[in-house]
Amino acid sequence: MQNSYEIIDLKPRLSDFKKDVINGLLSENKWISPKFFYDRTGSELFEEITKLDEYYPTRAELEILKDKASEIGEVIGKDVSLTEFGSGNGKKSVLLAKCLTNPREVILVDISMDALKDALKRFGMECPNIPAKAVCADYTAIDVMSSIKMAGRKAIVFLGSTIGNMEPADQRSFIAGCRKILSDGETFTIGADLKKNPEVIERAYNDSKGITAMFNLNLIARINLEFGTNIPPDAFRHYAFYNSNEGRVEMHLISTRDQSYNVGGITIRFREGESIHTENSYKFSISELKAMLREAGFSETSVWKDSRDLYALITAVA
Ligand code: SAH
Ligand code: AVI
Repeated sequence: MQNSYEIIDLKPRLSDFKKDVINGLLSENKWISPKFFYDRTGSELFEEITKLDEYYPTRAELEILKDKASEIGEVIGKDVSLTEFGSGNGKKSVLLAKCLTNPREVILVDISMDALKDALKRFGMECPNIPAKAVCADYTAIDVMSSIKMAGRKAIVFLGSTIGNMEPADQRSFIAGCRKILSDGETFTIGADLKKNPEVIERAYNDSKGITAMFNLNLIARINLEFGTNIPPDAFRHYAFYNSNEGRVEMHLISTRDQSYNVGGITIRFREGESIHTENSYKFSISELKAMLREAGFSETSVWKDSRDLYALITAVA
């Protein structure tokens, strides 16, 4: 069979970077959306994070995808069109596609065109007989997502615990949006990091090589690049901790001194010790995940965990 590739650019509104950053920095509690981590450098740094000893989620999810491949393939079913939201480097789409019997096509969706091009190349090399296409889009725009043509029976997957980077209300509306795209009997598969000893979680976001710090601080480099500001590298430091009341890791950039910068014509002041909140990474229990899926209109869930019970993969039927 001849492989076919297509890249569809739905033009996610990344131009909003400037507007969003200024709005966030003008808020009383300064913040920047984690979706802005993933420029070329950020995507490469994330890839480095996934290889760190301390960052267990990727390894745990890959273990599940490899060890439980045949069961997962059976539950998702044959002849499906597999769509992965937030496909990143595409490694997991490859593994999943290999679990499936006769997949009709694989659709990789990501906000980062750089990541998509690399992922499509990887997919083409590893699964040359499966038609694949890449869609550059913001998956939170569910109306845009529902316009993506998927041939045959649909299977949506959302891996990497990326659901954890959304706020609880957004997690619910995202899952409900996926349910709307699916017809009865089609499947939604989600990978999520589980609640556990906070020390294990905190180590994953404070690695000894400082890669997560570089990933977080890359937002400052991106601000410098896009606004032409000159914020020095030591103006902020990385801070990450597990907030057990909220069940989430919080990442912040902490201002190392009193300082101010002209960002897009607006003066932004930072007090020493003041934070820019850059990411939440929620952790889940299996019952929380099942309840969210049920609420969104899914039933019959299959759950797989890695050998250390760190991480779960769940397939739910619409
Ligand atoms: N699923 C992969 C990658 C996880 S990293 C894995 O498990 O390894 C999160 C990915 O989601 C990145 O590739 C990032 O570019 C993408 N992403 C983040 N926010 C997004 C959004 N709003 N719309 C589409 N893609 C997004
Ligand atoms: C992509 N996402 C699920 C990662 C996480 O663990 O929340 C992003 C990340 N942030 C710091 N390290 C990795």
